Amino acid sequence: MRLFVGVAPPAAALDDLDAACAPFRHGRDDLRWTSRELWHITLAFLGEVSEESLTRLVPGLERAARRNSTFGLSLAGAGAFSHPARAHVLWSGLSGDLHSLSELAAAVSVAASRAGTTPPDSYHGFTPHLTLARCRAPADVREIVASLDSHKGPAWTVAEIILIRSTLDSQRPLYEPLGSWRLRATA
Ligand code: 2AM
Repeated sequence: MRLFVGVAPPAAALDDLDAACAPFRHGRDDLRWTSRELWHITLAFLGEVSEESLTRLVPGLERAARRNSTFGLSLAGAGAFSHPARAHVLWSGLSGDLHSLSELAAAVSVAASRAGTTPPDSYHGFTPHLTLARCRAPADVREIVASLDSHKGPAWTVAEIILIRSTLDSQRPLYEPLGSWRLRATA
C-alpha cells in the first residue's frame, strides 16, 4: 500500500487559504489545482509499504508523536518547486514554529527508516509546504507566488500526526486515514 504521514490543517485555515487562492483558479489551464478536501502537509512520503513494515511502523509513529510537543502553525506565503518561473508544483508556505515541524518530520522519517520503509525522497530534505497545484509542463507562477506572498492565515495548534493510505485513481487520489497519534501536550 502507498502511504504517507501528514498533518491536517483545520477547516478555518483551509477556508482562508481557499479564499486566498480563488482569484487565481480561473484562466490557468496549465495548473491542476488540488482539491481542498485533500489538502494536507506531508511530513514524510513512504511510498509502497508492506503489511509487515506497517506493523513495525505503527509503534514507531506512536513514539515519534509522544516525543514531540504540540506547536503552532499557520499557512502563509507561497512558493514553487523547483522555481516560480518554471514550476512543477505551486504551494502554500507555512509560518510559526517551523523548527518543531521539521523536528516532527525528522522523527517520522526515523520511525519509517527503523520500520524498513525508508522514504524515497528522504535525501531531499524537508521543505514545509501544502501543495496547491501541479503542472504537467513547467509553468510560470511568479505572479501567483508574488500575490500570495503577503497571505497569512489563522494560526492553529498541531496536535496530531496522521498516517494516510493513498490510492491512485485515474482522476485523483483517494486518501484514507489509517491511524492518528497525539503529540505531547505542552504544559
Ligand atoms: P506533497 O504534495 O505535500 O508534496 C501523497 O501522495 C503526498 O505524498 C503528496 O501530496 C506528496 O506530497 C507526497 N508524494 C507523493 N509522491 C511522492 C514522491 N514520489 N516523492 C515525494 N513525495 C511524494
